[in-house]
Amino acid sequence: MGEQSLGLKPEALLFDAYGTLFDVDSVTAACEELCPGRGRELSAVWRRKQLEYSWLLNQMERFEDFWQVTGKALAFALKALALPADAGVKERLMQQYLHLKTFADARETLASLSGYPRYILSNGSAKMLQTLVENAGIQDCLTDIISVDAVRKFKPSPEVYRLAVNKAGKVPEAVGLVSGNAWDASGAKSAGLLAYWVDRGVGPWEELGFAPDAKVNQLAQLATIL
Ligand code: LAC
Repeated sequence: MGEQSLGLKPEALLFDAYGTLFDVDSVTAACEELCPGRGRELSAVWRRKQLEYSWLLNQMERFEDFWQVTGKALAFALKALALPADAGVKERLMQQYLHLKTFADARETLASLSGYPRYILSNGSAKMLQTLVENAGIQDCLTDIISVDAVRKFKPSPEVYRLAVNKAGKVPEAVGLVSGNAWDASGAKSAGLLAYWVDRGVGPWEELGFAPDAKVNQLAQLATIL
């Protein structure tokens, strides 16, 4: 399946942060340096646990700043893989999360879509996202950054997508979420938004009963379909 053309046109675009504009795998090099031979594994377990904790907290009707969630997920991953790590190692790995690399086409894509209001909508805390965006130097390509902090729920809770729809001042079906995370794009569809899945070959689409409005293989292709 290649690019798909669009039915409805969006009036505003939301971009997921981690795994969409920012490459969470860019922590792998630091993981490898600090835990030789286990970097890829550590990075994968860390990210998976970070997501699981956010979903578990939603289920428990609890909320924690995503920085705390990310730190606890790292502690779990190090323990699960029996990797010795002192506070210094943890701190150095956590700092990576504020310096994630953007995908190569992120800036040019955001710039090319300047006809749309463009927001980041992310589970990240406002502080994490602000720092990340500043470090990447893409603030001039964004209308605003929307963190889940305001509703104290994580994606894919519908409240998060509604928060962004309200912020954009549109109806849900006029707002499109761009996400490299199929579960996130499914969450947006479930909440009535448009969803564009950036399929980078990491895994198949989620079998949750929703289809994306379009699929691209890289961010740069968005400009040609929107
Ligand atoms: C985000 C992560 C969860 O919301 O992808 O940015």
